[in-house]
Amino acid sequence: MYKIAVLPGDGIGPEITVQAVRVLEAVARRFGHEFEFTEGLIGGAAYDAVGHPLPPETLDLCHNSDAILLGAVGGPKWDDLPSNLRPEVGALLPLRKELGLYANLRPAKVFPALVNASTLKPEVVSGLDIMVVRELTGGLYFGKKYREPMADGGIRAVDTLEYTTPEIERIAHMAFQLARKRRGKVTSVDKANVLESSRYWREVVSALSAEYPDVELEHYYVDNCAMQLVKNPRQFDVLVTENMFGDILSDQASMLTGSLGMLASASIGGDIGLYEPSHGSAPKYAGMQRANPIATIMSGAMLLRFSLDLTEEANCVERSITRVLDLGFRTADLMEDGKELVNTIQMGDRIIEQVESGV
Ligand code: IPM
Ligand code: MG
Repeated sequence: MYKIAVLPGDGIGPEITVQAVRVLEAVARRFGHEFEFTEGLIGGAAYDAVGHPLPPETLDLCHNSDAILLGAVGGPKWDDLPSNLRPEVGALLPLRKELGLYANLRPAKVFPALVNASTLKPEVVSGLDIMVVRELTGGLYFGKKYREPMADGGIRAVDTLEYTTPEIERIAHMAFQLARKRRGKVTSVDKANVLESSRYWREVVSALSAEYPDVELEHYYVDNCAMQLVKNPRQFDVLVTENMFGDILSDQASMLTGSLGMLASASIGGDIGLYEPSHGSAPKYAGMQRANPIATIMSGAMLLRFSLDLTEEANCVERSITRVLDLGFRTADLMEDGKELVNTIQMGDRIIEQVESGV
C-alpha cells in the first residue's frame, strides 16, 4: 500500500487535483495496487481555515507519506498578506525547502496530436522533447530578502542570489544523469557575463562534466537561451539552471507544447517527492471546470515513476493521455477547429476510460 498526500490548494487546484486522483485510482484498480489518499490544507485555503498557509499538520502528513500530489497555491485574495503568510512564500517555498526538494524536473514534450496547438510553427516544435531541470531550493528565491529605510525617506528593497559548491554539484549531477538516459546533452544556463554566482555555477558544472565524458555539455546565457527556445527549441535535451531562470524558462518552454496546462513537474532530491503542475492557481477560472487537468495528471504519472517506481503504470497514464488527444478531445486552452471541447471532469473521464480499456 502506498500513502499519497493530496494538497489541492487554491483556485483551480482542487478541481484539477481531483482528476489526477481519479486517474491514479483507476491505475490502482487496473494494476492491483492500493493507494491511500489523505488530503491536507495548503496555501490560501489553509490560511482561511487555520490562519497559516502551511499548517504543521500538513507538514506531518507530507513526512508520513510516500509521495505528495499538489494542485496550486495563491490568488489575489491573499496577495496583500505579509510575505510569510502569503501562499507562495509562506507555504510552497518552505515546503520545497523543508523536504529538501532541490531538483525540479519539468518535461516539455510535444504530443503529435498537438503540433498545431502551439503558437509556434509545427516544423519548429514537432518532436520536441526538453527536460528543464530547475534548481529549486536556492538562488534568488531563497537569498536574504529585506527592506530598509534610506536617509532620503525612500526604501531599499533587497534580494540576494547565492549558490554554494554542493548546491551546484548536486543539481548538475542530476542533469548529467538524466541526460544519460535521454539524448546525452546538457545545456547549462546562466548569466556568467554579469553575475558572480553564475560564473561560479559555470566553473562547477564544467569541472563536474569530466565525470560524464559521454554527455555533451554546453553553456548558454539565459537571454540567449530564451531566444533559442523560440528559434530552434529542438536543439535542447536537458536544460539545467538557477531557480528563477528555471521558473521563467519553464513557463516559456511550456508554450512550445501548446499550453501551460500541459507542463507537469516533479520535485525530487529529498526523501519524499512532490508532484504538481508547473502552472499556477488561475483564480479567474476557479470552480468553472474549464482548466486543463493534463499537467496534474501527468504529474501523477511522474509520481508513479519517480516515487513509487511503478514504470509500467506511469507509461499507461502517458499512453492514455496520448490516446485521448489523438481521439481529438481538447480542453479550452488547446481547442482547435474540428476537435471536441471537453471540460475538466470530462477530460478526466476520457483518460480514465483509456486506463480502464488497457491501452
Ligand atoms: C512555479 C510557480 C511558483 C514558483 C510560484 C507559485 C511561487 O510559478 O512553480 O513555477 O515561482 O516557483
Ligand atoms: Mg512558475
